[in-house]
Amino acid sequence: MRPFKNRDIISIKDFTREEIDYILEKSNEMEVHYKSDTPSMLLAGKILGSLFFEPSTRTRLSFESAMHKLGGRVISVSNPEFSSAAKGENLSDTISCIQSYCDVIVIRHKLEGSSMLAAEVSNVPIICGGSGTKEHPTQALLDLLTIKNEFEKIDGLKIGLAGDLKYGRTVKSLAYALSLYNNIELYFISPPLLKMRDDVLKSLNDSGIRYHEYENVEPILSKLDVLYATRIQKERFPDPSEYQKVSGSYRFDKKLFERLKPKDTFIIMHPLPRVNEIGYEVDKMPYARYFKQAYYGVLVRMALLALVLGKI
Ligand code: CP
Repeated sequence: MRPFKNRDIISIKDFTREEIDYILEKSNEMEVHYKSDTPSMLLAGKILGSLFFEPSTRTRLSFESAMHKLGGRVISVSNPEFSSAAKGENLSDTISCIQSYCDVIVIRHKLEGSSMLAAEVSNVPIICGGSGTKEHPTQALLDLLTIKNEFEKIDGLKIGLAGDLKYGRTVKSLAYALSLYNNIELYFISPPLLKMRDDVLKSLNDSGIRYHEYENVEPILSKLDVLYATRIQKERFPDPSEYQKVSGSYRFDKKLFERLKPKDTFIIMHPLPRVNEIGYEVDKMPYARYFKQAYYGVLVRMALLALVLGKI
């Protein structure tokens, strides 16, 4: 394994399976600090720069919670309208300055390659909290932790990724991560307009992973171990009329699950936020894991901060 200290976390593709399994193991070990009434002092004296140039609830707050749980402190840009980006400052200049104020930076930005650009100018580790439509590596790690803790394995599972596969970054990072595991079968479920991009499919082909494409979940739901649903990314459509064509085109509700009878061990995940793709009544069904998934986000981010700051 390459050392984690001072490492940038830009893409899930930068990790080997051995490294991912190590991060998942360390994430579970963080639960003792998470549950303790007295904060751990593991990151005492360290400061996280939390730079979110796009909206976020879970990623930003779970990173900040992770830092607080380990005794560190946080400085943040949570509304870019109140940062100098609104006056026209470019990302490179922002990072060149902020790196002097903190020991690690998490950044979310709408531009593809924004985290990579930040890493090129920063002397402190950069963690991607979501970049463009392709990368959300820490989400993929918490998704894997959810699956691993649920099934006690990741190998051999049948996983459906459903919804906006074209613009959603979580599904792409997760598909790449799953391609490192053995005997995984992926089912891409989406309207034709929101199909998984060809470059991702080509890369999965190259890694030898088996995948199938469907327009709806009915024919395969009973085979799945996991259904990972996603929101249609309205804000990323270049043409609003294209969004109108697919808006509301899929929904996973209680009636669907009652009719299609998933496996006893089946779970439904979602990176959140949801809009209307999972019915609220599903929250009370035994399959729902999306709020547990959000909790695992804190553990994974505690482990990542401690690793890149050289404290594990
Ligand atoms: N899953 C996720 O990235 O959620 P937020 O957009 O709320 O951070």
